[in-house]
Amino acid sequence: MSRLQASQALNYALETMPELVAGRRLLWNLTPGTGRTEGARALCWDRGLASGWEEAGLKPEGLPNEPACFPTVLLVPDRQRECQEAELARAVRWAGSEGVAVVSVPNLWGAKRLAKRLQEVRVEEVAAAVTKHHSRVFFLRQNGPWEGSGLDAWEKGGEMRRQPPLDHWTQPGLFSWDRVDEGSALLADHLPETLAGQVADLGCGWGFLSLEVLRRCPAVDSLDAFEADARALEPARRNLGKVLVPVRPKLHWADVTAGVGLRRFDQVVMNPPFHEGREADPSLGLRFISAAAAALKDEGSLWMVANRQLPYEPLLEALFGEWRQVAVARGFKVLHACHPLPSSRPRVAFRRRKKGRR
Ligand SMILES: C[S@@+](CC[C@H](N)C(=O)[O-])C[C@H]1O[C@@H](n2cnc3c(N)ncnc32)[C@H](O)[C@@H]1O
Repeated sequence: MSRLQASQALNYALETMPELVAGRRLLWNLTPGTGRTEGARALCWDRGLASGWEEAGLKPEGLPNEPACFPTVLLVPDRQRECQEAELARAVRWAGSEGVAVVSVPNLWGAKRLAKRLQEVRVEEVAAAVTKHHSRVFFLRQNGPWEGSGLDAWEKGGEMRRQPPLDHWTQPGLFSWDRVDEGSALLADHLPETLAGQVADLGCGWGFLSLEVLRRCPAVDSLDAFEADARALEPARRNLGKVLVPVRPKLHWADVTAGVGLRRFDQVVMNPPFHEGREADPSLGLRFISAAAAALKDEGSLWMVANRQLPYEPLLEALFGEWRQVAVARGFKVLHACHPLPSSRPRVAFRRRKKGRR
C-alpha cells in the first residue's frame, strides 16, 4: 500500500511539474500502472512487481546494472534507512548533473527523517518537495563532484558486505540483514538431522535456513531456494557456497505466491513473510502455506516457523493429513505438517482427446 501511494504521489508531482523532467525515464521500484511507460526502462528487485511490469509491456531488470545516462530517474526507495539512502544516492548519481532524480518516500517509511538528512549531504533540490498520498516527493540533482558529497558515503552504506559476528554476506534492506532472525533460529534448532531428499526453502532471504539445512542434514540430496527479492540472491549464493557439502543449491528469483513450478519436493522449510508495511498480514503466510502444500510430494512434509499469534493452523488442517506444533518459544511457534491432501493440489484442466485424434 505504501509503495502504491508513493508511486501515485510521484506521478502526481510529475504532472504538476512536467517542465522538470525530460527524456528517457528509469522507473525504479515503482508500482506498475501508476505512470507513463513509453520509452522507459524498469528496474525492480521484487519479482511480484516485475510481473506487474511485464503485464504492462516493460521488461524489468532485477539487478542494478549501471544504466546508461538516464535524464530522469524515478524511484520509490526501500523502507530500511541505509538502503533508502543508498538507493536515493544512486538515483542521483545515475541522473547526473544535468538530469533529475525524483524520489518519493512514504511518510511511514521516514520521509520527514529523510528531508532532514538531505541537509547533511551536498545535493541540489531543484524544486520544493511535494506532499501527497501520505508521501513526500523530492526533486534532486547532483551538485558538484560526487566524491565527498556525502551521497558517495550513503551509496557505499547500502552495498553488499560481510557482516559480523556471523561473517555472512548480506545487504541492508534484506530481511533481518545484519543478524539471524529469532524465529528462523528456533526453526533451525528443531529441524531433524534426518531431513532428507529434495528440499525447498521458500523465501530464503540471504540464505540462513538453507545454510542450516545444508549444515545439519547430511541426507539432503538437493536444495532449491526461492526468493522474491533479487538483491538477496547473490548474498545467498555466496553464503551457501561456503558450506562444504556435495549438494549444489539452486537459487530462483520467484514469487512464491504464484507457485514454484511443477517440481515436487520431499521437504519444504520456510519462515514466511508476515507483514506488508507496518501491519501484520497473515494472508501472505497463508499463500506460502498453499504454495508449500502444492509443491510437496504425497509423502512430503513442511517445516515452518511463524509469530505465535498468526492463525495458520486452520489452513494446515485443511491442506495436510497431519500437522502438529513442535515448539513455542520467544513469541514464535514451529509447525510441522505432512501428507498434503489432494485438495492442496493445483487444479489442472485436462481436455479429453477425441478418439482417432492426436
Ligand atoms: C521472514 S523472511 C525469512 C528469510 C529467511 N528464510 C530467514 O529465515 O532468514 C521472508 C522472506 O520471504 C521473502 N518474500 C516475501 N514475499 C515473497 C514472495 N511473494 N515470494 C518469495 N519470497 C518472498 C522476503 O523477501 C524474505 O526474504
